[in-house]
Amino acid sequence: SKRQKQRKVLLMGRSGAGKSSMRSIIFSNYVAKDVRRLGATVDVEHSNIRFMGNLMLNLWDCGGQDSFVESYLTNQRSHVFTSVAVLIFVFDISSREAAADLLNFASTIRALHEFSPNSRVFILIHKMDLIPADQKSRVFQQRAVEVRSTCEDEGFLEQQVDFWATSIWDQSLYRAWTQVIYFLVPNATVIERMLQKLAELLDARELVLYERTTCLVVTHITRGSEGQNPYSDRFERLSSILKTHKHSMAKHTGTLASEVSFAEMQVKTGEFMFFITRLTENTNLAVVMPSDEATFNAARVN
Ligand code: GTP
Ligand code: MG
Repeated sequence: SKRQKQRKVLLMGRSGAGKSSMRSIIFSNYVAKDVRRLGATVDVEHSNIRFMGNLMLNLWDCGGQDSFVESYLTNQRSHVFTSVAVLIFVFDISSREAAADLLNFASTIRALHEFSPNSRVFILIHKMDLIPADQKSRVFQQRAVEVRSTCEDEGFLEQQVDFWATSIWDQSLYRAWTQVIYFLVPNATVIERMLQKLAELLDARELVLYERTTCLVVTHITRGSEGQNPYSDRFERLSSILKTHKHSMAKHTGTLASEVSFAEMQVKTGEFMFFITRLTENTNLAVVMPSDEATFNAARVN
């Protein structure tokens, strides 16, 4: 029998930072424009998400209004901060209260360090779409430096903390959450070894494994000259395309986006051939092949 692996993930940050927005987009099949109708989260919203067979994500979306945070840090302190695998902390880069945001963060990770010192922290510097293009990198770096020094003050090691610039309006959100998922998926290296073998058998240029409900990348195998592919964000772009496809299918067929599935999708060009198909109950596999009809067909059959 398969043993369920429960992993507790805290989603925190001040009210209005965008936590429930991202949760709805990643896990509940919302599109970016739908999130405007979300209200402020009251206390904690729990969701259990089955992921990759035996992994259960235990996601705590913690409402960020000061009175709730006060309670997480006092009477609910051990309940909230015990057995945490990952803290995802969201900073609104457009916030007018940057100093207060940082203080709030410091008291949060102090509590985390007290109850789950080995947890992993993902810092999302969010709403980056509101920063002009020529300032994005400077603004991001500046905030990351401040946050990193707070983490070190509270006893977290550099390798326990990751930083990502995100926005719900592009694939950067998928990129960040893909890192979180990769960290949580058990046996990622076993899966990679098997995919590597499959890629060699098929003589594929690239294999990309997607989780079916979220369309997030679990891992990928890239071979030969494909390593020089200049589109380094191609995996997240495909996540985003698959999500959009799910939505339009749902609209046309009158079903829930979460229930839409497809048998296969193909793209053929003079340079490469591509197909994506269901691999297991929880995964889809995208296969990039050289532009050759015979090997392409063999790969599909295999
Ligand atoms: P609490 O539940 O009160 O803690 O807030 P929250 O962090 O869950 O915030 P929520 O997700 O409800 O989002 C607040 C507002 O931010 C919404 O109006 C969203 O439309 C907006 N928002 C979320 N993400 C982004 C983003 O990437 N860019 C921009 N411009 N706005 C965003
Ligand atoms: Mg919320």
